Amino acid sequence: MKKDFLTLLEYTPDEIRAMLRLAAELKAGRGRTERRVLEGKTGVMIFEKPSLRTRISFEAAIHELGGHVVNLAAESVGMGTRESVEDVARNLERIVHLVVARTFAHDTITRLAASCKAPVINALTDLYHPCQAMAFGLTMQEARPGKKVNAVFVGDGNNVCASIMIICAKLGYNFTVASPAGYEPHAETAKICAGICAETGGRLDITNDLFEAVKNADVIYTDVWASMGQEAETQKRKAVFPPYQVNAGLIARAPKGVLVSHCLPARRGEEITCDVLDSPASLAYEEAENRLHAQKAIITHLFSREAI
Ligand code: CP
Ligand code: NVA
Repeated sequence: MKKDFLTLLEYTPDEIRAMLRLAAELKAGRGRTERRVLEGKTGVMIFEKPSLRTRISFEAAIHELGGHVVNLAAESVGMGTRESVEDVARNLERIVHLVVARTFAHDTITRLAASCKAPVINALTDLYHPCQAMAFGLTMQEARPGKKVNAVFVGDGNNVCASIMIICAKLGYNFTVASPAGYEPHAETAKICAGICAETGGRLDITNDLFEAVKNADVIYTDVWASMGQEAETQKRKAVFPPYQVNAGLIARAPKGVLVSHCLPARRGEEITCDVLDSPASLAYEEAENRLHAQKAIITHLFSREAI
């Protein structure tokens, strides 16, 4: 039975920890320790939205695991327009072994996975970005090994926030979201995460009180104010989000030694200032590199699940 990687909710804390352990091993032994689980296999990538990190890290990951990758232009595939999402899946499964997709609607990737015999990996949708969350988890385990991390997300309760919320719940971390009113994470995902926290010992708080939120932070995370697909809301959001900028004033409210991260791309001077993003406290570029290692672990897990 094939398994997909769509939201992280479908994975147990033990499975996530095992993938993170493997990611750390693959990082330490890059070029020496990979199992070539994609030898003789082909992966396909379809991106409905722009990408730098996700596209290049998946391409490198598939190559380093012995596979070949084909990039299809989403406009030419036309999932749901040129033909149905299900028909795209039924054709791809006959030719390739792995599908990596970045879509607008989360429903598109859910339908793609449901109709495809090959594993499907979510490379970001409007609701989730689980690969980013895995890179965050790896980065935290490196920066604060063995610690129950207090993570604080500042800004839009969007796809990245949702996935960081999920991994924090799964790993038993404490997670606080500080968003402007009306931009909190989806209530449904928050409810699920609160339920997971009850089992893992994590804690989830959602607030509009920024300074209170960062009081005990080990790491402050942020993301753009207007995500891909929300360009029309840019001006409206620019009027709401400035008090939630991650800047030196906010860092001063957090404990000494607080770390900072961002999924990138950053809008420097909007959600985060240059001095903070470029400071020694910033893990954003380490986390970007960790996308590669985390995704190699995810693919290895999907293609050899009994091995870890
Ligand atoms: N963080 C991230 O997913 O970056 P890209 O949009 O450049 O892939
Ligand atoms: N929330 C951002 C993340 C980009 C990696 C977006 O969806 O555009």
